[in-house]
Amino acid sequence: MYNEGNYFSALALWERIRPHGRDGNMKRVYNFSAGPSMLPLEVLEEAQKDLLDYKGCGMSVMEMSHRTPEFEEIIAGAESSLRRVMNVPDNYKVLFLQGGASTQFASVPFNLLTGSGKADYIVSGQFSKKAYQEAKKYGDIAVAASSAGDNFTHVPATTRESFRPDADYVHICFNNTIYGTKFPYIPDTGDIPLVADMSSCICSEPVDVSKFGLIYAGAQKNIAPAGVTIVIVREDLLGHARPDTPAMFDYNLMAENGSMYNTPPCWCIYMARLVFDWILSIGGLDAMKERNQKKAAILYDYLDSQDYYFAPVERESRSMMNVTFVTGDPDLDKKFASEAAKQGLKNLKGHRSVGGMRASIYNAMPIEGVEKLVSFMKVFAKENPKKD
Ligand SMILES: Cc1ncc(COP(=O)(O)O)c(C=O)c1O
Repeated sequence: MYNEGNYFSALALWERIRPHGRDGNMKRVYNFSAGPSMLPLEVLEEAQKDLLDYKGCGMSVMEMSHRTPEFEEIIAGAESSLRRVMNVPDNYKVLFLQGGASTQFASVPFNLLTGSGKADYIVSGQFSKKAYQEAKKYGDIAVAASSAGDNFTHVPATTRESFRPDADYVHICFNNTIYGTKFPYIPDTGDIPLVADMSSCICSEPVDVSKFGLIYAGAQKNIAPAGVTIVIVREDLLGHARPDTPAMFDYNLMAENGSMYNTPPCWCIYMARLVFDWILSIGGLDAMKERNQKKAAILYDYLDSQDYYFAPVERESRSMMNVTFVTGDPDLDKKFASEAAKQGLKNLKGHRSVGGMRASIYNAMPIEGVEKLVSFMKVFAKENPKKD
């Protein structure tokens, strides 16, 4: 109920959280979060313009029915832009789903584990382990290769012989967000469909979609706010789901309904479309890769040039998106993250399970952010000598 006290405390809260200072100066930081993470400024500004009145329809996309011509245009636009960005072949469906990448850990077996009931997983980090553990509930699941014994500091090598010839699919996590590793190769699985979790590397560089049976990715790193999950699936893999597949997990049902079997995450799909169009506007994935390589090289070149910080990942397996490093002293690591935050370099603390530092430098991170981080690293190293 309204009273003056409530009104003034709400006002005080708003003053604290609103992004603009009283003088109208915007303060944006370099956000190195592993996800949700930075979105391109141009995209946020575009969304801001549309926020109250989307293209003259007098309402925000957040308030819009998904059964309107305006939203139909948004979702069709998102799909066609993603198809252009990733050069998705015509015999693949693009789905906009909910439940995050973690839901796909179950949806994949529900839909694909229906031939021999066997699937092979490459375990290269925590998320692929979670995907493996989830799939084990539904069939005969084997670990084809794992780097767990080496603390996931590299991606295991495989050959075609690593996989059971009658497996229904092989599952990989293409970029391991927590450890900062990425597959330096696409596993040769012969005719067995390859399924890839690309949550933390999708749209960072060109990939040959035709090498995969299915690609999935939570959006909250390179695509949109959390809430939409992209699935790109080869058409011949549809329509074989287990009879007890929940409707919301059924790719074929979702494809038949244009991802609108139920209410889709409308706002996230709208944001995804803006991001895909932003990628196209800067030259597509070739240009994106060039930018990302440049950013990663600034950081890795510095790490390789000194001995204050240590990068635990083997060179071959280094991720272009998540760069992990440690000082070797957990107290210094903690101090590093908190001092960096004071300089506007936020969320550099490593994942709670591995410690150290992690700089997630997804598409939206500008080069200046990485340059500023390296300058800070140099100063920190000088000002915080290690005890012998
Ligand atoms: C590679 C990878 N897979 C899966 C997940 C889980 O995603 P979600 O939180 O969308 O379920 C994450 C989250 O960070 C991730 O990085």
